[in-house]
Amino acid sequence: MRSVTASAPAKAILFGEHFVVKGALGVVTAIDLRARVKVTEDRGSSLTIYSRELGGKYKINLNNLESTPKPIAPFARIIKWLKERDYTIYPAIVEVKSNIPLGAGLGSSAATASAFTLSYTALHGAPLNQRELVEATIEAEIEAHGRPSGIDPNISVHGGVIAYRPGHEPVGITVGRELSEYKLVVADSGLKRNTKTAVEFVLDLASRYSGVLDHVYKAANELSKRAIIALERGDATTLGELMNINHGLLAAIGVSTPELEDLVYTARRAGALGSKITGAGLGGAIIALVHKDKTPIVVQELRNRAPWTSPVKLGESGVLVES
Ligand code: MEV
Repeated sequence: MRSVTASAPAKAILFGEHFVVKGALGVVTAIDLRARVKVTEDRGSSLTIYSRELGGKYKINLNNLESTPKPIAPFARIIKWLKERDYTIYPAIVEVKSNIPLGAGLGSSAATASAFTLSYTALHGAPLNQRELVEATIEAEIEAHGRPSGIDPNISVHGGVIAYRPGHEPVGITVGRELSEYKLVVADSGLKRNTKTAVEFVLDLASRYSGVLDHVYKAANELSKRAIIALERGDATTLGELMNINHGLLAAIGVSTPELEDLVYTARRAGALGSKITGAGLGGAIIALVHKDKTPIVVQELRNRAPWTSPVKLGESGVLVES
């Protein structure tokens, strides 16, 4: 039986999570953790999905997508999207393997969705182009979290480091060489969070306090603009300060927790130039910008408190066919 494997990267939002949902500029990097999806031709009329991360084996009845179990509903939504566009729908075995921590705000769901869409369409010789892959991944994200800004689908497809504003094409950022002296450290608090709940919480707060929070959204947008310049210049000190300010804005909209504050301040105390929540917050991960000489101590301190900590590489490749 023929098969195709595609993979897509995790992401870390550097600036602008939540604010991007209402149109502010966001800055995001692909990181060197990947979701791999192997699609193999099969007989019958279903997709059989194996995923340890999603809890085992599931089936999608291709003739009755509505009956799909909740954990794999995003796959069914992609199939529906392909059907509506007259792509060939065929039975297959889908094997998902990923080293991206789940529910940590690191883009595991978008990476899985884009890798699945590419491998499924490539197997029958009609791989979607990047724009279509983004659209299909947004469909999966709507199923998973209700109101995605599109930042996760765009980074999982395009990779690199990008500036993103909803409704606009993403713009690639070339990171200054000076930043090669610095590492981004990710620490997952291990507290599973739900993006949908966090996004709804923030949108509700923003609508009830619009006169106040409009200013915070404007500040976040301005912060991302300055961050792009600092990234291009390789100005780590400014980037660190902007990360700290961004963390303060995220705390202002209510998505920090005592555990996340502890990790953010642990990183700063151990020598990080800046640290902040990454992703939806209310659990999940933080990121810290650290000079390479200080990385071992920052990693050590974070490992004492967080179940998963790792330095990551920026600018990883977007979704691609591996074999
Ligand atoms: C989730 O990775 C980032 C959020 O801004 C939601 C979104 O942009 O879709 C919280």
